[in-house]
Amino acid sequence: MNKIITVLPGDGIGPEVIKAAQKVLDTVAEKFSHQFTYLNAKIGGVAIDEEGTPLPQETIDLCKKSDGVLLGAVGGPKWDTLPGHMRPERGLLGIRKALELYANLRPVTAHKSLLDASTLKKEVIEGVDLMIVRELTGGLYFGQPQERRQENDGESVVDTLYYKNYEIERIIRQAFELARLRRKKVTSVDKANVLESSRVWREIAIAVHADYPDVELEHMLVDNAAMQLIRDPKQFDVVVTENMFGDILSDEASMLTGSLGMLPSASINGNGPGLYEPIHGSAPDIAGKNLANPLATILSVAMLLRYSFLMQEEADAVETAVSKVLEAGYRTGDIAEKGQPVLSTEEMTEKVIEHI
Ligand code: NAI
Ligand code: MG
Repeated sequence: MNKIITVLPGDGIGPEVIKAAQKVLDTVAEKFSHQFTYLNAKIGGVAIDEEGTPLPQETIDLCKKSDGVLLGAVGGPKWDTLPGHMRPERGLLGIRKALELYANLRPVTAHKSLLDASTLKKEVIEGVDLMIVRELTGGLYFGQPQERRQENDGESVVDTLYYKNYEIERIIRQAFELARLRRKKVTSVDKANVLESSRVWREIAIAVHADYPDVELEHMLVDNAAMQLIRDPKQFDVVVTENMFGDILSDEASMLTGSLGMLPSASINGNGPGLYEPIHGSAPDIAGKNLANPLATILSVAMLLRYSFLMQEEADAVETAVSKVLEAGYRTGDIAEKGQPVLSTEEMTEKVIEHI
């Protein structure tokens, strides 16, 4: 197959991990007889420096033209003093919005050989394999009004949790579709004992479930879900939830595996190009030193192959290669234990490629 991929290296370690990811993609292309064409575009600090804006129109146009987008990371101390609307992070929010990426997928997998990296007990996290599906373009973070007010009896403030019912339906549908590719269980997380929006969320989840009788559906209140994620994370397969709930729960869940340098993510919308990126930032402290762990970005490549290109075998090959490399004891600095030799970004990438 011939696919066009827009690459947005961004700032800090972004270009280093993106280079690693492209090498992996080249290997997959060769091995499985595909052709991947890369379009390079700017986002974040590098775009501010060269184009005067964190998200040039050309970048949006290229992304829209492509079959998938791969992003490194944005930001760094150099741009920290800029006003909010000019900051590198604006580029990220802007591209998610421009591509209408309403579903944020964060898989959390506890790699066998990295169990000691977590702050949680081995027996709690061993075998964890869950996916948080966070609604990304609506809910509390986007609802209007969102403002400070001057009222007769004093100052006040309002945020709004607003959803069109179709927005709830499409994210829940996405969760059921993903569950079908996995262990066939969806946990819909809400706060239906308090919020009207959650009661509607629950009604829609039940209605959509009728189309997926082969998948189990359970409802869980968000405070309980936060507790259960730590108490017994293995009970979860696919977790679907509102924007802010998902923001909090996905950060919590990411710590089950211990290392930021290991976790990929995907933001998709069902038909247009998806955006794939590691969850870590630009790590200015190690940028340019060939020290970054490329695995989060390489695992994001696996997600790109799986969810945007529907190349299951290819995605499996990349994920299996990463597992094998870890099992063989290869480590970058962030995941190495005392005494283990430390590989550079490029060396780690070579090891993955050898195992594909
Ligand atoms: P960070 O994720 O960049 O770094 C946190 C710590 O983890 C650092 O010690 C870093 O060296 C380490 N680390 C991160 N990724 C690693 C990797 N692949 N391999 C080895 N070690 C790794 O978060 P921080 O320091 O809070 O933010 C730095 C900059 O990144 C800021 O400008 C922030 O705004 C931006 N940022 C960007 C994100 C994005 O583009 N999606 C997400 C989070 C932060
Ligand atoms: Mg967050």
